[in-house]
Amino acid sequence: MNQEYKTEHMRELARFMMTYKFALDEIETKINILQQEFQFLHDYMPIEHIKTRLKSPDSIIKKAIRKNLELSIPSLKKAIQDIAGVRITCSFLSDIYPLRDMLVNQEDIRLIQEKDYIKNPKPNGYQSLHLILEVPVFMSDRQENVCVEVQIRTIAMDFWASLEHKIFYKYNQEVPERLLLELKKAADTAGALDIHMADLHREIGDIKEARGDDLNTIVIDNQTVHLPELLMKMME
Ligand code: GTP
Ligand code: MG
Repeated sequence: MNQEYKTEHMRELARFMMTYKFALDEIETKINILQQEFQFLHDYMPIEHIKTRLKSPDSIIKKAIRKNLELSIPSLKKAIQDIAGVRITCSFLSDIYPLRDMLVNQEDIRLIQEKDYIKNPKPNGYQSLHLILEVPVFMSDRQENVCVEVQIRTIAMDFWASLEHKIFYKYNQEVPERLLLELKKAADTAGALDIHMADLHREIGDIKEARGDDLNTIVIDNQTVHLPELLMKMME
């Protein structure tokens, strides 16, 4: 392989990785917009945190070999759909599906695949909503449609998944039967906690509604202040 040919290949590979970084940035921006707008409209943050990650070239190659894929850019692009990954942790179960709909219904997003491990948890107890979304990335001389794996889960689901992941690797993927049973029990407890929290959340919502809480007013020294009016005055 001559040097020029090699350099050209490295450039192609770097460009390939860049498209995933851009797709990740796009999706992250979309989620941030939804979060900020939602907070403005409803005075409530549905997302606790967002984590993004790019699979390293090393892990991409390892996965390709494991899956017996042809080692070419088009084949990797087609068969490995989790090169770019976003994990969204929501406060409540009830935040997950509206957020999913808000993303999937955007005009430039295409839903490629959906796995609902909340409705159908994995046998080990794992819960999460997995989406493979495709977004267009516009570059100087071309448009690429790029896949991003989005995992949406609650804090309780995330807590369980990170612990399970640690245990899985600690035992080199051969976890003793007793621990597997304990993990499944812990997953059930996490699921019960989510349902409990959902009930509480609903109850608090009902109380707010019954009291007719107005998000535009605050009480200072026993005086009710209407914020929009105050702002208008300040701008006069
Ligand atoms: P991969 O080939 O590994 O990507 O699996 P898949 O294509 O069958 O995808 P799936 O949607 O089942 O899982 C993809 C990702 O979800 C994983 O890379 C993990 O981040 C997460 N995940 C899936 N199952 C589990 C699990 O049992 N425990 C934990 N902790 N994470 C999981
Ligand atoms: Mg995967």
